Amino acid sequence: MDTEEFAACPFPAGPRGGPPAVLEQRQQDDPLGWVRMPSGEVARLAVRYSDVAQVLSDSRFSRELNDSAAPRFLPGFDFMASNLGLLINLDGKRHQRLRSFVTKAYSRVQVEHWRPRVYRIVDDLITDFVAQGPPIDFVGQFANPLTSTVMAELLGIPPETCAQLRDGAGVLCSIATGKATMERAREQSATYTELVTEIVRTVEKAPSDGLISELIRIRDESADLSDSEVCDLVLMMIIAGHTPAGILTRAAVTVLSDPDLYRFFSGTSGLSSAVEELLRCHSVALSSLRVATEDVALPSGTIRKGEAVLASIEAANHDARVFSTPLSCRLSRDEEDSTERHLAFGRGSHFCLGSHLSHLEIEAAFSSLARRLPTLRLDVDPDDIKWGALMRSPVKLPVSW
Ligand code: HEM
Repeated sequence: MDTEEFAACPFPAGPRGGPPAVLEQRQQDDPLGWVRMPSGEVARLAVRYSDVAQVLSDSRFSRELNDSAAPRFLPGFDFMASNLGLLINLDGKRHQRLRSFVTKAYSRVQVEHWRPRVYRIVDDLITDFVAQGPPIDFVGQFANPLTSTVMAELLGIPPETCAQLRDGAGVLCSIATGKATMERAREQSATYTELVTEIVRTVEKAPSDGLISELIRIRDESADLSDSEVCDLVLMMIIAGHTPAGILTRAAVTVLSDPDLYRFFSGTSGLSSAVEELLRCHSVALSSLRVATEDVALPSGTIRKGEAVLASIEAANHDARVFSTPLSCRLSRDEEDSTERHLAFGRGSHFCLGSHLSHLEIEAAFSSLARRLPTLRLDVDPDDIKWGALMRSPVKLPVSW
């Protein structure tokens, strides 16, 4: 399908996929100024940490953008925005009820049980690509299969199915704007949704110990969860579940370009803070759209009822008011610097459900690579990397050792 890709930021990326310089300029001169989104519609662009944190967490800013008059970030057919049953598109009681069914599976305690399994998956992937010999593609032979396999085990479905779903999601999240391509995108979206329903039906017949079986059990035992809600929850988990691959690859460019950063991961202390710093520098969720349901005073000014606000997570995570030398990646930052946490996983009621899992995947990936392959390095000049627009992560990343 002939599709276009838009990053979730209206401005072109800075050098090596980094934040656009205009965001910093806006932080100084125009912290809540208007911006034209790729859809052609306008929104207030929140760029300072304090404003972004409030927009994401204040319930007077709604994520329920299902009104036909609601602002759209993207032009044409937008799969995520059109799926109104998805968790990310809901507010209030319905959102809380649906979220409660999946919270436990992704809690810190539950994810800790997954630690040995995630390390085992990482180890197996390294063993496979070492057997093949250098160079390998970090995206296709490590980051993507890692997230697909973890997700498959967690949901209780075959890894090949997850890989197929990942490829499909990539196409869906690209945007079709022409009349013919929009029609095809709608068809593709329907096919994708059917595929997810089919997966639920398959698990129904052959239950596993994964999250899908658990949701089916809840559906059958209580009147609180409908079949279509189960399918929407699974769809949301599948689409969002691929995100760590993007951040892993973005972070790999930084970590593998600097031997000190890479060596850091072969140690045993400070790993958790180091992962937090990678998340701050490389969040792939660049911004999030909300609408004010009433006039709201933010630290930098007032947003009027009905106005759309684009909260720039990328700008907030690089706000020099909060993080000193924000463009450098300092793996021990937590100990030296800010008491404010990065906003890579959002804040408030929509805070990312996959935060603990993603943290574990990133930690397992870099610490196992650094210990087993201390000479791993980029096999491409960072200036020649082709950056995908959607998550601003490399499309391919050749590495050698
Ligand atoms: C490093 C990788 C990831 C990043 C940077 C990330 C980022 C985010 C952000 C910023 C939000 C909030 C969006 C908003 O408020 O508008 C979010 C929501 C969400 N994320 Fe993630 N995510 C990641 C991985 C995952 C994974 C692995 C899962 C798998 C379960 C996941 C599931 C979700 C869900 C279900 C929501 C919606 C929660 C709700 O609306 O209540 N994410 N994510």
